[in-house]
Amino acid sequence: MNGIYINLAYIFASILFVIGIKMLSSPTTARKGNLVSAVGMLMAVVTTLLKSGLGYQWIVIGLVTGTVIGAVTAYRVAMTAMPEMVALLNGFGGIASLLVGWAEFRRIGGAGWGTLIPIFLAVLIGGVTFTGSMLAYGKLSEKLSSKPWLFPGQGALNAALMLIALAAGVMMVTGIGPDGASTWALWTAIGLSLVLGVLAVVPIGGGDMPVVISLLNSYSGLAACAAGFIISNTVLIVAGALVGASGLILTGIMCKAMNRSLFNVLFSGFGAGSAGNGSAEAGEHGEAKPISADDAYYVLEAARNVLFVPGYGMAVAQAQHAVRELANLLIENGAEVRFAIHPVAGRMPGHMNVLLAEANVDYDLLVEPHAVNPTMETIDVCLVIGANDVVNPAARDDKNSLIYGMPIIEVDRARSVFVLKRSMRSGFAGIENPLFYKENTRMLFGDAKESIARLVEQFKED
Ligand code: TAP
Repeated sequence: MNGIYINLAYIFASILFVIGIKMLSSPTTARKGNLVSAVGMLMAVVTTLLKSGLGYQWIVIGLVTGTVIGAVTAYRVAMTAMPEMVALLNGFGGIASLLVGWAEFRRIGGAGWGTLIPIFLAVLIGGVTFTGSMLAYGKLSEKLSSKPWLFPGQGALNAALMLIALAAGVMMVTGIGPDGASTWALWTAIGLSLVLGVLAVVPIGGGDMPVVISLLNSYSGLAACAAGFIISNTVLIVAGALVGASGLILTGIMCKAMNRSLFNVLFSGFGAGSAGNGSAEAGEHGEAKPISADDAYYVLEAARNVLFVPGYGMAVAQAQHAVRELANLLIENGAEVRFAIHPVAGRMPGHMNVLLAEANVDYDLLVEPHAVNPTMETIDVCLVIGANDVVNPAARDDKNSLIYGMPIIEVDRARSVFVLKRSMRSGFAGIENPLFYKENTRMLFGDAKESIARLVEQFKED
């Protein structure tokens, strides 16, 4: 295939990637955006195959095997297991880049530094991404303990290993040392990258894994970008850079929404010492006031303005369909209904949006915290469904709180608040929530799906 046509096809594929990503920014265009990017990827793959002039039998075998495994896995994965799936895919991307680097090093031997630097980077970043992602997968899927693992001298050990890996990189690129030293340097870089991936992820708790996965996603993009330089493939460079940049931006958004620095996420061992299950009915703030579903129904029936605030517990209870049914009944009853979505509610980016979309909740009913907070005094009832940290007023009022400064949905300023959860246990941050003891708060204890189903029943009976 002519070089000009190849480059034109690569540019067109890259444009489709960018348009696809742009379309992902709105729920209404997201599905089409995914398709547009996929068409771009198909175009890139076909062009590369035509360019390569390789025998096709291995490529076809690889393509068919990969497609079958990918399609079956994607079909079977539960929505709540999506971060694990992304972790695995990142890991495979990382190992693929490492293998490209290793294979090219063997093939070309002593090439110029313009090729050897990308080989070193693909190996180092690819190796870290591979083992780091596998560990992240193990922690998230609870095949491994999700507790952060901290030990004295951890930072110093990581820094020392990183320095040795960089020294190996310098040896590899400059060819300093006796014959064969470059090959040993490559093996050292490969070994250390795999160890560093493990060491980078062990101090991070399971709850922070989504942030780490987003960061590893960015690494897998950078490794692919380096692989693109190794094999002089423009579209791989562009796609890798896009993944690298978008992963980094998403990591930044998640950290900002939790009001934590990336440094804190990576090195603090957040959750290592948190109680996470304080079960006292009465805290330092007074006594929590329970309410029955029957009584909650009478208040809801009279409410004109209702705000749903879903959180991680809605995902655990799989209550989204029941929630949509209750919302429809409230709307039929004449109430104005909205859903306030906190950017880090749940355990993965867009977790609540995905669940509510699955239940066909109208996008127009979704509001962001900064838009709904100024109107809070006009809301008759806030239904907090399995959310805890994202509605914790301590983040606003208590300078000593672990989550102080994290933007919250200020439900405590509404006329009344019903909190649907099973107990007085804390949420992800493992801290007490003064909201539960406020004068205008009532606790509707029980599994969120069952509680909502009882409210729905009451509406239907009436
Ligand atoms: P959480 O603060 O984790 O609270 C969830 C609550 O749901 C728990 O207190 C739990 O109380 C309740 N719950 C669990 N199962 C339930 C069920 N079946 N029925 C009813 N309630 C149930 O959730 P959140 O408010 O969504 O906050 C998310 C937290 O995760 C934040 O701290 C955030 O920083 C962190 N985080 C988020 C992300 C992303 S990207 N979303 C990534 C990393 C960390 P009971 O046990 O008493 O029922």
